[in-house]
Amino acid sequence: MKTTVVALQEAKQKKEKFSMLTAYDYTTARLMDQAGIQTILVGDSLGMVMLGYEDTLSVTMEDMIHHCKAVARGAQEAMVICDMPFLSYQTSVYDAVLHAGQLVKEGHAQAVKLEGGLEVCPQVKAIAQAGIPVMAHIGLTPQAVHVMGGFRVQGRTEEAAKRLLQEAKALEEAGAFAVLLECVPAKLASLISETLSVPTVGIGAGNGCDGQVLVYQDMLGMYDKMTPKFVKVFEQAGELMQKAFRDYHKEVQSGQFPAEEHTFAIRDDVLEKLY
Ligand code: KIV
Repeated sequence: MKTTVVALQEAKQKKEKFSMLTAYDYTTARLMDQAGIQTILVGDSLGMVMLGYEDTLSVTMEDMIHHCKAVARGAQEAMVICDMPFLSYQTSVYDAVLHAGQLVKEGHAQAVKLEGGLEVCPQVKAIAQAGIPVMAHIGLTPQAVHVMGGFRVQGRTEEAAKRLLQEAKALEEAGAFAVLLECVPAKLASLISETLSVPTVGIGAGNGCDGQVLVYQDMLGMYDKMTPKFVKVFEQAGELMQKAFRDYHKEVQSGQFPAEEHTFAIRDDVLEKLY
């Protein structure tokens, strides 16, 4: 059965944690879906882990729609949430609704996610009123990397912690169906999770959140340009892939691959007629 915003709300009420991973293509989404991952985020992190940019700022609506469509085809049961890329919603409430709608209509997302606190509450309200479930993302917000001066933990001082709590409440009030907390001290994230009636999703925010998300290349050890402290590598798939690529390369060069069992036969009498 397809995971819905209602199912996530019920999970919170029953104190059942839910899982989320990022995915950007059909095959990976299908594998995650079959593994029971409940929600898939088509994150704008695709700018870094799929497209090789230094940050998420260059990601376009076209990129998001392209990848979201593929993920949506692979996710039979998992709920698909698509990130709104930089400048697709900050510019105006009108732009926000229009682009959120595009991610649903063309990308086949079930919900969208956007970054920011009080300043994006009008956008959250308008998107929710348009009938599109919207997840808010606070704490470390990578689209504001240049304002924050790098990827660093947020909410450590009294003032910053109060602001995060206030933002989380305001976003819930504006109509966000969930709030994602990135790089927030665990005890603060727990307090926010207990305070809100909508679910929270944590990344680098401890286990007091209602759900957890990781970038899949991080949890599979496939992206070594940056490994944040909060990442747990569940399998060294990056090493396994490299080994397979090396073995393939060697076998191609030595002529060991393809072997007889990988080739198609032709009858000798057919072949003879060619000479
Ligand atoms: O873009 C992304 O992958 C995200 C996660 C880091 C939460 O927003």
